[in-house]
Parts: sequence; C-alpha cells; structure tokens
Amino acid sequence: MPSLGLLAGDARILAAACVAIAYLAFCALTVRSHWQSTKLAAAAQPTTATTQVVYASQTGFAQQLAEQTFASLQSAGHATALLSLRAVGLDTLQRSQRILFVVSTTGEGDAPDPAAGFVRTVLGHSVTLANLRYAILALGDREYDNFCAFGHRLDTWLRHQGAHPLFDVVEVDNGDAAALRHWQHQLGVLTGEPDLPDWETPRYERWRLTQRRLLNEGSAGGPCFHIALQPLDAARTWTAGDIAEIDPRNSTWEAHGNAALPHREYSIASLPEDGAIELLVREMRRPDGAAGLGSGWLTRDAPLDSEVALRIRGNSNFHPPTDAVPLLLIGSGTGLAGLRAILKSRVAAGQRRNWLLFGERNATCDYFYRDEIERWQRAGFIEQLDVVFSRDQPERRYVQHRLLERAELVREWLDSGAVYVCGSLEGMAPGVDAALQQILGAAALESLAAAGRYRRDVY
Ligand SMILES: Cc1cc2nc3c(=O)[nH]c(=O)nc-3n(C[C@H](O)[C@H](O)[C@H](O)COP(=O)(O)OP(=O)(O)OC[C@H]3O[C@@H](n4cnc5c(N)ncnc54)[C@H](O)[C@@H]3O)c2cc1C
Ligand SMILES: Cc1cc2nc3c(=O)[nH]c(=O)nc-3n(C[C@H](O)[C@H](O)[C@H](O)COP(=O)(O)O)c2cc1C
Repeated sequence: MPSLGLLAGDARILAAACVAIAYLAFCALTVRSHWQSTKLAAAAQPTTATTQVVYASQTGFAQQLAEQTFASLQSAGHATALLSLRAVGLDTLQRSQRILFVVSTTGEGDAPDPAAGFVRTVLGHSVTLANLRYAILALGDREYDNFCAFGHRLDTWLRHQGAHPLFDVVEVDNGDAAALRHWQHQLGVLTGEPDLPDWETPRYERWRLTQRRLLNEGSAGGPCFHIALQPLDAARTWTAGDIAEIDPRNSTWEAHGNAALPHREYSIASLPEDGAIELLVREMRRPDGAAGLGSGWLTRDAPLDSEVALRIRGNSNFHPPTDAVPLLLIGSGTGLAGLRAILKSRVAAGQRRNWLLFGERNATCDYFYRDEIERWQRAGFIEQLDVVFSRDQPERRYVQHRLLERAELVREWLDSGAVYVCGSLEGMAPGVDAALQQILGAAALESLAAAGRYRRDVY
C-alpha cells in the first residue's frame, strides 16, 4: 500500500505544515499584540515634546501659579500637562524632557505636605536625568530663615542627577510681582512667543464687614473675633478649606506712608450657604505694641459696615475628603476656623463620622463656637469630641497629649480615615505630628500624607 503510505506521509507533512503555520501565526499575533500594547503604553505617557508643569503647594498659591504657567504654554500652542508633585516618581522624571516646577516652602524650610512622598521616594535616590531640562519657580518669604529652601533643594538634586537647568531658580519673595514677571518673560523665551498675555493678578472684590464679635472676653490670650463679610457685588462661591486674602489698604499703616501693603491670609470658617465669609481672627500685636497689620485692620480699624477688599484663594490641599471616610479634625486657637468650615460641609453632606479635637487656654473664656459644637455633637454629627484646655489644671495639657491618650481609637479611625490639622505652626502642629508618628509609626504617617489623608493648614 505504497500510495496509502505516501498519503499517510503527505498527511503527516501537511499536519506538520499546519502546526508550523499555526505556530508562526501565533508568534506573529503575540508579537503584534505586544507591539500594540507597547505602542499604547507609549501613547499613554506624555510625549517627549510635552512640557510638564509640576506643582507642590501647601496653601494654594503655587498651584494657582502653576495653572497660570500651564495656561500661558497652552496659549502659545505648546503641548503641556499639569500635575501635582504628588503624582511624580522617578519614572516620570526619566521619561520627561522638559519640566517646569512651581514649588513653595513651608514649615521651617520644608517641602509642602503633598510632596512628602516625592521627598521620601525620589530625592534620596540617584538616577541619570541627562535628558531632562527644567526650570523652578520657588515660592517663599524672606521673613523665614530658610528662604525658598525646598525649591533650592530640588534644584540641587536635579543638577546632581545630570538634569539641565533652562535658567536659574526664580525666587518669589511673598508673591513679589517683579519675580513673577521675570518667570513670565522666561516662558515667552521658552515658547518663542515673547508677547504672551500678562498674567492677571487676582483682583480684590468689594465686601462689607457686617459682624465683629469678641469671642473670648477676659481671656489670658489675645482677643479673638468672629468676623463676617458679605459680597457687595455678585455672590461668590468657595469650598471649605479655602482662604480669604485681605488687603488691609485703609489701615492706619497707610497713613504712615506705607503705600503697597502686603495682603494677609485667613482660613474661611463658613460655607457659601451661610451667605457670608466668616473668619476667626486673633488680634496680633507688634513688638512696639501696635496692632498687627491685617488682624488690626479686621478687628479694630475697619469700621463696621465699611468696605473690605477681599479675594478668595482656592486651597485644594485642605478641601474636605470627597467621600464619607472617618475624619479626625485637630486644631487649636484660630485653627478652629478652617475645621469649622469642613465640619459644616460634612454636616451638610450628612457625613457623621467626625472627631473634633480642639485645644485652647481656659474653658470659661476660650471655647469658641461652643453652642454650635455641642449642638452638632447632640445631633450625632460629631461622633467623638475632645476639648483640651491647657490652663484649667496645674500642669499644661495640649491636644497632642489627648491624642496620645486616645492612641488606640486614633489607629482605628485612621485605618480607613483621614486627619486634618489646622492652626499654629509653633507648638501645636509639630506636637501633633510627633504624637501621630508615635501612634502610627513614621512610615505609616508618611504614607498617609502621600495618600492625601494627612492634611495641614498651619501657620
Ligand atoms: C494659610 C493661613 C491661614 C491663616 N488663618 C488665620 C486665621 O484663621 N486666623 C488668624 O487669626 N490668623 C490666621 N493666619 C495668620 C494671619 O495671616 C496673619 O499672619 C496674622 O493675622 C498676623 O498678621 P498681622 O498683619 O495682623 O500682623 P503683623 O503686622 O504681620 O505682625 C504679626 C506678628 O509678627 C511679629 N512681627 C511682625 N513684624 C515684626 C518685626 N518687624 N519684627 C519682629 N516681629 C515682628 C509680631 O510678633 C506680630 O505679633 C493665617 C495664616 C496663613 C498663612
Ligand atoms: C507656616 C508657613 C511656613 C513657611 N515657611 C517658609 C520657609 O521656611 N521658607 C520660605 O522661604 N517661605 C516660607 N513660607 C512662605 C511660603 O513659602 C509662601 O507664603 C508661599 O507663597 C506659599 O505658597 P503655597 O500657598 O503654594 O504653599 C512659609 C509660610 C507659612 C504659612
């Protein structure tokens, strides 16, 4: 049966050929799909021509300037992307050709909180960044010892990794207009569009001072006032966590020939639904006994019912969490202002898992907004309430001490929750930070910050 044998041989050859073809087809498909997915992954990453604008902001100003930088590049027809330093890792730096950083400095020469993860996972490492060109707009204030320290730290690190500065760090002292013009000029040079429209400085609006009420009569501390302001022009909106910038222009200081007065910032303590911006302001005194520029204007000099120049600055770093996660709110003194706005927004959203931990000096004089807080507690909107008065007993007791006593519950809440801290940078914020480190461990606290679940509005 030779023919059959031949047939059987043909069939074997045919079968082998089919297997080979199927195998080749499989290989081709695999290679193609791999190539396609690589192509997709590459497409998902910013193209090398994209100029990325990366910001790190504590109280919103760097973010505002980054948005303006981004808009300028866009208007010049430049491919650009805007992102927070929170979202930047070594891989982002390695695949980028051009980054414009806008970063502020906070604390005592520290990086803003949202940059905590970047500082930990990137700044300590070595990597080759020879393809990266960058520029830095560094925000700071010369009244602090470590002027623009984080901007310079970032610059030094980038240089050590072989990245090339497009031009020197542009330092901005307290919003200095000349430095900002310089940065805009550099953007013009970079884009080849020297006639980019000038950035508009956010304009002050006209508000009326409708209430001023002393909240702590007889206090051992400085007088604190509840202040309310209503818009004179169109109604305005804002989010809890935002900041009111006041222009103390009519103060007695101006009469002394100080024409260009710096603005002052105050955490907004109310919601738009309240119909007014409410502030909690402590009257400050200068070493010579004169009232502070901004606080003096709001608490003494500006006549009731008079006009106050105010503008709202978004501060997304301190906006409330978007979901109903358990929220631990810690503050002392006027820090209650920002916490009050957040509590109001949680109450309005029906979110009950709130824990307020507030500290002041004496319960009799300094328990600001006591009725409101106790009303929220009775209605179940403040699930846990701790108030600590430092001078109501022989030894000094502060919020951080209470926090340590409640360590177990703190761990439970922060397992899935968030912690917001508002108020004094001296004493309170570092004390609370140290207590949280002790309770959770330094690494866990850093991860909490990197995940945006540890936020601070401290000054
Ligand atoms: C994000 C943010 C939110 C804030 N929220 C609030 C808030 O809700 N409530 C609130 O009351 N404050 C708040 N502040 C603080 C507020 O912005 C002002 O710093 C505060 O009111 C003091 O400013 P002033 O103009 O009244 O005083 P200034 O005139 O600036 O004086 C302030 C103090 O600085 C010292 N000082 C000033 N100049 C000198 C000098 N030449 N030499 C030595 N010492 C000097 C003095 O001790 C004086 O008491 C906030 C700050 C920030 C950054
Ligand atoms: C609590 C606090 C601490 C600050 N510490 C510093 C500092 O150490 N060095 C500095 O140059 N500026 C410091 N500043 C000034 C800020 O960098 C400056 O106000 C900046 O414009 C804030 O930008 P941001 O709103 O984006 O965080 C500090 C400001 C605050 C409120």
